[in-house]
Amino acid sequence: MADKNRIGIGFIGGGFISRFHLRGMIAVRDMDVIGVFDKQSEIAESTVALARSLSLGPAKSYSSISAMVADPNIDALWICAPNFARIEVMEEIAAAVGSGKGSLIGVACEKPLGRNVKEARRMLALVKQAELLDGYLENQLFAPAIVRGRDIIWKRGAAVTGRPFLARAAEEHSGPHMPWFWEGELQGGGVLNDMMCHSVEVARFLLTEPGAPRDSLTAVSVNAFTDCLKWQRPEYAKQLSDMSSGKIDYLKRPAEDFARALVEYRDSDGQRLVVETSTSWCYVGAGLRLSMELLGPEYSMSVNSLDTDLKVFFSRAVVGRQGEDLVEKQNAEVGLMPVVGNEEAGYGYEWEDRHMVQSFLAGKRPDENFDDGLAVTELLMAAYMSAEQGQTIAFPPKGLDDFIPAVARGAWNPKER
Ligand SMILES: NC(=O)c1ccc[n+]([C@@H]2O[C@H](COP(=O)([O-])OP(=O)(O)OC[C@H]3O[C@@H](n4cnc5c(N)ncnc54)[C@H](O)[C@@H]3O)[C@@H](O)[C@H]2O)c1
Repeated sequence: MADKNRIGIGFIGGGFISRFHLRGMIAVRDMDVIGVFDKQSEIAESTVALARSLSLGPAKSYSSISAMVADPNIDALWICAPNFARIEVMEEIAAAVGSGKGSLIGVACEKPLGRNVKEARRMLALVKQAELLDGYLENQLFAPAIVRGRDIIWKRGAAVTGRPFLARAAEEHSGPHMPWFWEGELQGGGVLNDMMCHSVEVARFLLTEPGAPRDSLTAVSVNAFTDCLKWQRPEYAKQLSDMSSGKIDYLKRPAEDFARALVEYRDSDGQRLVVETSTSWCYVGAGLRLSMELLGPEYSMSVNSLDTDLKVFFSRAVVGRQGEDLVEKQNAEVGLMPVVGNEEAGYGYEWEDRHMVQSFLAGKRPDENFDDGLAVTELLMAAYMSAEQGQTIAFPPKGLDDFIPAVARGAWNPKER
């Protein structure tokens, strides 16, 4: 590996998030996109075409994950298949590496690492077994506003007046783009699993002193609440049913579209710290809204992704097609609309992918890795336990490793509460 000065990347899954990574990789050096494998070959071909059109490398589609692993030009894989395919994907990678094929250095896996603790642990075990470097793709930790804000707050405010004690993170939009996200069993839960994975991790990151290890904070309790506020209303449940040819039935088997959680931490001096998170699939505003805050004794910082510098206005005379060309999960095309100038940069994908590429090239484990993915999953499962039991859960609770949320078993329905 010492003679390498660039790495070749293969994508597993060529859907929504892979396209985000590809657009972000325009700004990343020392890498080429070599391949895409997707279970749907036409999606693989269109993602290959995108990579080529962005001049990211000599991309082509592959017939299997094993074929990508076997290609010596592919050094790292980005796992961007749906949550329900995590284990089969990682098992195939580990088996191909184990059979002596190729020269893979590392894998980077999208959030969540697993649908539950058992799956996340299995992912970690498989990557270790294959002796690969592992990156956990949590883009929000690499968002420039978060990286810069955290650095400034800690250098100025915390250094003079003491560490921050409260971090808030929220992520909201009007609902996922593909049917599988809405199904508890396939996705692992509802919005808590889908989006609170970002919020608990970015808030924990803000509260952690730069350079200090993850275990400088200890989670001591989790208190959470979930509900299905919008998508169980008959007219909206019907929309989901229609979009999935009747497969998704939110009247009988909903997933939560709102979740909040409070995680209590202690730092290494025993000081009490709080993370407060809130996520929803029932926010109808301009589009995706990420908000984060970090508060300490004499300072605060705040981020709101819809407070954009660019805004456009279209009168009612401007009639156009629906799209996501202004902002992710856009809800309107007229009136005053915020535009995120570079979403791939703003949400953190550029710096995230750069970190993964540079870590793999240097033969170093990325700063955000499968240990972090597992820790996030443990917090989320404790949050589901708390919401189901209606009480605060001391962390880590008994039975966490085998816990499957009721929503992932098709056994959750707040109407029956
Ligand atoms: N970081 C973020 O903010 C963010 C945003 C969206 C999605 N994600 C994550 O990325 C992953 C993919 O989500 P998406 O939105 O791109 O979904 P998607 O449905 O748009 O795309 C997934 C693609 O994977 C393919 N696929 C299915 N099973 C496969 C398998 N076994 N092997 C290879 N390909 C397979 C599908 O054909 C599809 O094209 C999910 O785990 C999701 O949680 C992260």
